[in-house]
Amino acid sequence: MEALQLSREALHQRGGLLDQMLDKLFDNAILVDDQCRILYLSKGTFSDPEQEAALVGKPVRALDRVSPFDLVLRTGRAQTDLVLELFGRRCVSSLYPVVDGGYTIGVVGVIMVRNPNRLKRLFSTISKEDSAFQGLYRDMARTESGYGLEDYLGESPLVADLREKARRAAESEESILLIGETGTGKEIIAGGIHGERHRGSAAPYVTINCTAIPENLLESELFGHEKGAFTGATEAKMGKFQLAGAGDLLLDEIGDMSLQMQSKLLRVLESRAFERVGGHTIIPLNAGIIAATNQNLLVMSEQRTFRADLYYRLSALELHLPPLRARREDIPLLIDHFCGQKGGKLRLTPAALCALQRYSWPGNVRQLKNLVGRWLVFYDGVQITEGHVEDELTIGQRSYNEAFGVPPQCSGAAGMWNGCGPARPRSLEEQERQAVEDALEYAQGNRALAARVLGISRTALYQKLERFQRKRQEMT
Ligand SMILES: Nc1ncnc2c1ncn2[C@@H]1O[C@H](COP(=O)(O)OP(=O)(O)OP(=O)(O)O)[C@@H](O)[C@H]1O
Ligand SMILES: [Mg+2]
Repeated sequence: MEALQLSREALHQRGGLLDQMLDKLFDNAILVDDQCRILYLSKGTFSDPEQEAALVGKPVRALDRVSPFDLVLRTGRAQTDLVLELFGRRCVSSLYPVVDGGYTIGVVGVIMVRNPNRLKRLFSTISKEDSAFQGLYRDMARTESGYGLEDYLGESPLVADLREKARRAAESEESILLIGETGTGKEIIAGGIHGERHRGSAAPYVTINCTAIPENLLESELFGHEKGAFTGATEAKMGKFQLAGAGDLLLDEIGDMSLQMQSKLLRVLESRAFERVGGHTIIPLNAGIIAATNQNLLVMSEQRTFRADLYYRLSALELHLPPLRARREDIPLLIDHFCGQKGGKLRLTPAALCALQRYSWPGNVRQLKNLVGRWLVFYDGVQITEGHVEDELTIGQRSYNEAFGVPPQCSGAAGMWNGCGPARPRSLEEQERQAVEDALEYAQGNRALAARVLGISRTALYQKLERFQRKRQEMT
């Protein structure tokens, strides 16, 4: 079971089959709604049933401060086999999202093994080298975000540089802006920055997706509101700025925030204080702000769809996440990792791996992860060839060249993935042009950044671009 498919009605109905299952099948179970409030505690969680009843409707943190319910709600992904200290005892627990029509509407947390001797026996059957075992221990040290910077995988220089910059940014109190194409891992880096700042503490990590929340609700989601502030505000509610306390707030997809909200956000960032909608009390902002986007805010600010002053305010610490095609050497490692996560293995011919490394990966690591997941299901025990890769990855692309580029070229991977067949070597001129194009793409057209990535001066980059243009004109 990776998710429990259940209607909202069934989730909120008490005394039915769901409650009976939770009572009978597990040592303890907790059911929470989409606000992380307790809906149900299985029988026997406490010896006093009144104590159980008193907790219903309360935030789950009142009972359990360690299990990552928030993370499961946010990501819709199960967190299984967590070794935790709950109710004063060590136990293995798993959290599963409750899903209705594609939306995560709650979480069920179950404790599988409470008896420490059973736990010890379980551990003795797992080898110390086993990555799942190491994962269990890493999970124990997790913070609210569920991520550490080490979860952002890759050994390429671009990734090492990014992890180091993120670590330094975490030490600062300035706002941080994460820029990267879709699927490049902005949520991992944001969570990792929080993890770096607050490892070992219970500082909150709160996220908000500015695209997902309708414009008219975003203000009260961020600032909170007082009772009666607007029609429908029947209760006072804390906003995300306040919920983030002294932890961190991730403003995801910030490029989709309306200009009006951008002004309000800028005011909060400058004054480090805010008021609830309909309220008069000034509340200090203590949380760290991390914003993320896959849009080019600089261009947007020139087009006046993003406030330039907010952009400059946010970009004090700007981190660029490289697209996967700019760090092709990490592909084998990522494939291995995603296979390991699913407990499977893929058999790829060297030519298939070369094809994967040539591919342009518009969906970046997310696309690679999904592909690995699909192949583990469809190609279990089958040798995956270059043909398989090309068939699969040209679907939806206009042409082979668009997907794989010309001429076919392997970047040469390390370790067990070595041995790509000889590809036609490209001239230095071609390679230089490609490197410049990659760098400009990575820097989203920002030439100063592209020059820095290439390790050359800005003037040298301009000279190269002029030379390429001259050549192109000569050829036409
Ligand atoms: N460097 C990485 N190491 C491990 N997993 C990664 C890495 N980058 C991305 N992923 C995985 O790819 C998927 C997408 O990552 P994430 O949601 O952080 O992307 P994103 O940059 O926020 O994309 P979007 O702009 O579409 O929201 C996740 O499953 C994540 O675990
Ligand atoms: Mg994202």
